[in-house]
Amino acid sequence: MARADKAKLDQLPQRDSRGKTPSGSWNSPLGTADPPVPEPSRTPSRLPWKSSTLPSAAVRTILVTGGAGFIGSNLTLELQTRYPEARIVVVDDFRSGDFRNLQGFKGDFVTGDVSRLDWNAQFRDLVFDAIFHEASITDTTVNDQSLQARDNIEGFRRLLQFAEPHQTPVVYASSAATYGICSGIQREDQPPAPANIYAFSKVQLDNLARDYAKRFPAWKIVGLRYFNVFGPREAHKGAAASMIYQLYKQMKAGKRPRVFKAGEHKRDFVYVKDVVALTIHALNSKRSEIYNCGSGFAFSFNEVISVLNRELGTELAAEYIENPYSFYQPHTQADMKRVKFELGFTPQFSPAAGIAEYLSLLENP
Ligand SMILES: NC(=O)c1ccc[n+]([C@@H]2O[C@H](COP(=O)([O-])OP(=O)(O)OC[C@H]3O[C@@H](n4cnc5c(N)ncnc54)[C@H](O)[C@@H]3O)[C@@H](O)[C@H]2O)c1
Repeated sequence: MARADKAKLDQLPQRDSRGKTPSGSWNSPLGTADPPVPEPSRTPSRLPWKSSTLPSAAVRTILVTGGAGFIGSNLTLELQTRYPEARIVVVDDFRSGDFRNLQGFKGDFVTGDVSRLDWNAQFRDLVFDAIFHEASITDTTVNDQSLQARDNIEGFRRLLQFAEPHQTPVVYASSAATYGICSGIQREDQPPAPANIYAFSKVQLDNLARDYAKRFPAWKIVGLRYFNVFGPREAHKGAAASMIYQLYKQMKAGKRPRVFKAGEHKRDFVYVKDVVALTIHALNSKRSEIYNCGSGFAFSFNEVISVLNRELGTELAAEYIENPYSFYQPHTQADMKRVKFELGFTPQFSPAAGIAEYLSLLENP
């Protein structure tokens, strides 16, 4: 894509929050990352959400790792909107993030690898009030086991070691990939079954979090198992961006949207606004816990195509292709009961509503 076009897409205007909509993520055999038709392009915009229930005065200094990435940048800019007086520090090494996602960011940026950073030397006497850990290798096709495990697990371990003296509340990104190849509704208490090294690394994050929580009962460490997230500022992910974005790009180019036969695989697509809202809300958790973070809906690829056709005013029929994977999740769906009853949080966007709002942002830069 030409630089001028990219720059134009980067200029998405500030939108009013309460759209109508849902969410999603990507179409892989493991419910994370993957297949048919990429073709990236830039996205962004500002996304003001509703106010947090946290008192602003309690949140003065915030750390966000992975803040140049898709979810991390949406989170960082929302935190900036909610806590205008707070000092926000982002740590990212740009291995998959993009500085353009942080257009409008007024805080501090530390370029560093969380798994190698000397945290105490870097931040000296700075005490954070909240830490959001989003940094991770997110390309699930990276099969270098040592690299994925080292960077993802050691990054989290170092962060917890840094946060431990002050027991700073930590909310970290886990993944629905920890559930492995399964179908039906995924509940937090079902045993993990990681099917790739990315998922394995996330299971280890959950294990580490549980271990620290056991040793330090007063400390709040909350994990969120994100399902298939979609929304603004994901274009930099290329082939790893959500299937919703991939299908949108194909249809915008006048091509028939390509999905695996017969388009009836279902995914819990969750809009990034809900993901950000729950990530911030999780600071209110009364205890250390691991929660699902999905829309709670299972939406088929045929349904995604139908909503895209409706929103784009097109009538492009799906092109069904052979599925090369012997194992392919037929159905992912987050059980959101624990989130609802323990955190009092309900996602605001159905997948269809999220896609509609997302498209309005993509179509009206
Ligand atoms: N997008 C989804 O559907 C989804 C689903 C499940 C879990 N997650 C998790 O959510 C988090 C955010 O994912 P995303 O979709 O925004 O991906 P992303 O690739 O856009 O963002 C990840 C960010 O982390 C940075 N990063 C990676 N390793 C780092 C390291 N060692 N040190 C410093 N920075 C590092 C990257 O440069 C990037 O900016 C990740 O932890 C991911 O595993 C995302």
